[in-house]
Amino acid sequence: MSREKPKNLWLSRWGFVLAATGSAVGLGNIWKFPYITGEYGGGAFVLMYLACILAIGIPVMITEIALGRRGRGSPLDAIGRVVRENNGNPAWKAVGGMAMLAGFMILCFYVVVAGWAFAYTWKMLDGSLAAPSVEALGAVFESHNANPWALGGWSVLVALLTLLIVGKGVQAGVERAFRWMMPGLAVMLLVLVGYSFSNGSFGEGVAFLFTFDASKLSGEALLAALGHAFFTLSLASGAILTYGSYIPDGQSIARTTFIVAIADTCVALLAGLAIFPVIFANGMDPSAGPGLIFMSLPLAFQQMPFGTAFGVLFFAMVSVAALTSAISMIEAVVAYLNEKHGLSRPRGAALAGAVLLVISLLAMLSFNVGADWKLFGMTLFDGLDYLTSRWMMPLGGILMAILAGYCLRDGIMRDELGLSAGGYALWLFMVRYVSPVMIMLVFLHALGWLGFDPLVRWYWVLGAIGTLAVLGELLRPGMQRARVRA
Ligand code: PFF
Repeated sequence: MSREKPKNLWLSRWGFVLAATGSAVGLGNIWKFPYITGEYGGGAFVLMYLACILAIGIPVMITEIALGRRGRGSPLDAIGRVVRENNGNPAWKAVGGMAMLAGFMILCFYVVVAGWAFAYTWKMLDGSLAAPSVEALGAVFESHNANPWALGGWSVLVALLTLLIVGKGVQAGVERAFRWMMPGLAVMLLVLVGYSFSNGSFGEGVAFLFTFDASKLSGEALLAALGHAFFTLSLASGAILTYGSYIPDGQSIARTTFIVAIADTCVALLAGLAIFPVIFANGMDPSAGPGLIFMSLPLAFQQMPFGTAFGVLFFAMVSVAALTSAISMIEAVVAYLNEKHGLSRPRGAALAGAVLLVISLLAMLSFNVGADWKLFGMTLFDGLDYLTSRWMMPLGGILMAILAGYCLRDGIMRDELGLSAGGYALWLFMVRYVSPVMIMLVFLHALGWLGFDPLVRWYWVLGAIGTLAVLGELLRPGMQRARVRA
């Protein structure tokens, strides 16, 4: 079977890069990265996260984009087509289905956090953040969350804006918005880092972020670092695969992936460098949780010249960054409803939006009236985040790596990726052995089935990768014969 014809393509050469960076750079970088780094104790976590980006995130992202472009469609259909092209088992489509579900589940709590960013843009303007201390700002954050009408109102606003944009079609809007947004955000973060450098406890912040302390490497922290690598690059949640399906043939997937991953990592590290010095200078606890940036940054804004204007602009930028990520989470579902069930984009967005509004409002209640509604000790908000980041996305990643590394005919990915012989061999080695082994080890460790820290005993990791490499090479010819017979 020949490759699929594209139905939709990005307008310009930079279309995919802009949109994928728009998807990747968001609350994950500016809100989640600092707060989980604070919770898991700093440097060791950051190093694990960077290792996961390099060894798992980048190879999986290359794979996911290639699957999208080869199959040209929503995750479920694209994977289905690629598998059909190989006479493979159609059950692989479930990976696409799980990715779409993960993206949608993320969106259900993401709109609540994006609502915080929107609300704080307004609060900067109306003076309610002119509080003298971190404690006072903490109280502002708590009272905002205690009011379900305010919190719900902002979440609904974000959800409606997202649906409106997705309903209209992403390409034009996202491409245009991104030309000015990304440079703007980068400049503002640099200014904030400059402020932290001259006014915050910069040395302490840097030491916290980059000092490696092996005693902080718990299984829980490893799982969080792995999950965050997936979350921050928008992997295995439908977004990147669907955006990848709009890339014209001939554009280099690997180069594009590196640009997106580097931009994303830089934004996260800049956010960390901007925030932690302010936190230490004000005697704040870095493990304060999800409110971390909302309790610390407004204090910095108060103390800088033109701070109010800067703060408004900053939170506005974060809001836009959140919006471009939110859009990408639901794009896969809308594309699927359009392709499979013939629903127009506005109708698809409306249908998905109805479900989104119900679940996101329930997630919003986790901060007030529903704070005690818990399952396995987690509120709905925490549960959605935990299930998607820690389990669904890495599981999707491992399955996509196995699909591309072991089950597809050799020529398909080679053709799609268009890499040099060395580059292709490296990618293949990563998706066959390194990424799946590392994800498996982190899973096993998190489940308590490994009685030691696999990454401290690094020789276990190398041993496992080596064993799998040998086994894989021995078993693969058999697996491929079986596929040809099927
Ligand atoms: N990468 C986004 C962020 O860091 O904020 C979050 C995200 C977007 C996750 C899109 C999943 C997704 F499909």
